[in-house]
Amino acid sequence: MSHPDDHTGTRRDFLYYATGGAGAVAAGAAVWPLVNQMNPSADVQALSSIRVDVSGLEPGGQLTVKWLGKPVFIRRRTPEEIEAERAVPVSDLPDPLARNANGVDGAEATDENRALDEAGEWLVQMGVCTHLGCVPLNDAGEFGGWFCPCHGSHYDLSGRIRKGPAPENLPVPPARFDGDDLILG
Ligand code: FES
Repeated sequence: MSHPDDHTGTRRDFLYYATGGAGAVAAGAAVWPLVNQMNPSADVQALSSIRVDVSGLEPGGQLTVKWLGKPVFIRRRTPEEIEAERAVPVSDLPDPLARNANGVDGAEATDENRALDEAGEWLVQMGVCTHLGCVPLNDAGEFGGWFCPCHGSHYDLSGRIRKGPAPENLPVPPARFDGDDLILG
């Protein structure tokens, strides 16, 4: 487990820890504005990087943190969950695009193109429904992932829309690992 003081050469003062429940938000039907959700200006984004200690998250668990005023779902998936999502053909998906800020523009919505790591254990995505901005519930819906109770959108365990009015997959924000810490922004 790394510690912030181990990274004094790179750590910037505005980084802070969102450990455990700190910064966590409750899942529910709250509405979050979609305006500029994925397009913060460069200066806003630079001031809004957060570091999250994910070392306590067990496989199958989820942590929700707030980033740029919006919930971000951090999911640690089990081998069975990864295998199931990787078997889904892109032709079955209403939205064929990965929508991953860390990937190539226009990449297909394969599970490989959405997960943060090559093995697919970590899925990080905005917790804001792409229909009208409600917060989807985890471990719910017909596809084992997230369900938006506002108008009935079902997302799979790769955060891809599978059924309902939401037009797009849940977007993957800029994210990377620094040791055991996840950096958003
Ligand atoms: S806001 Fe999620 S289905 Fe309408």
